[in-house]
Amino acid sequence: MALHLPPEAYLWFKAFHIIGVVVWFAGLFYLVRLFIYHVEADDLAPEAQAVLKPQYGLMEKRLANIITTPGMVVALTMAIGLLMVNPSWLQQGWMHMKLALVALLLAYHLFCYRLMGQLDRGVCTWSSGKLRALNEAPTLLLLVIVMLAVFKAQFPTSSATWLVVALVVFMALAIQLYARKRRRDREQQTLFSEGGT
Ligand code: HEM
Repeated sequence: MALHLPPEAYLWFKAFHIIGVVVWFAGLFYLVRLFIYHVEADDLAPEAQAVLKPQYGLMEKRLANIITTPGMVVALTMAIGLLMVNPSWLQQGWMHMKLALVALLLAYHLFCYRLMGQLDRGVCTWSSGKLRALNEAPTLLLLVIVMLAVFKAQFPTSSATWLVVALVVFMALAIQLYARKRRRDREQQTLFSEGGT
């Protein structure tokens, strides 16, 4: 049964649902970027590691607990409000698909907490290259969830849609390859300068 609230309640829920989603994703993207810096600090001199690693750990905890998780809570609480005003969305296939993808996003969120704990204890086995690849997962989820939220049952399957998806995947791959090249160049430069001394 639909909840009887003032007509503008739905719009308030939707506005804060979108704000929550933006904050949640900003947090998720930056959190894994911090993990990358944290892991790469292993290559630095012990004195630099002693300063940087606790600093990254602190930044990660603050980002996760003050930005990312509250963003998630706002997005999901407002989503419940939207569904209470209009429960018929729950009968629709696009919403089932959206909920399944949101479940994956929640699993990703929890996995980030697990990685944060491992980094804190110094037992994380993820390389920075693997973390960079992991950081693309929420990009794909964001793309498909927003498309489902906007297009709903009219989710487009035309060639133009596939072109947009291919373009996003291509850009993500290009960013990965460029980052890998820069890493290799840096490693070679370090080897070269160590060899020269
Ligand atoms: C439990 C999780 C979620 C539920 C139940 C949910 C539910 C809803 C509902 C009912 C609407 C209103 C649709 C309309 O009025 O047209 C909506 C809008 C929206 N949702 Fe979600 N949502 C969830 C999570 C997310 C996530 C994780 C994202 C982003 C990745 C997202 C992005 C959006 C966007 C962009 C809109 C605005 C669409 C528009 O107005 O055209 N939602 N959501």
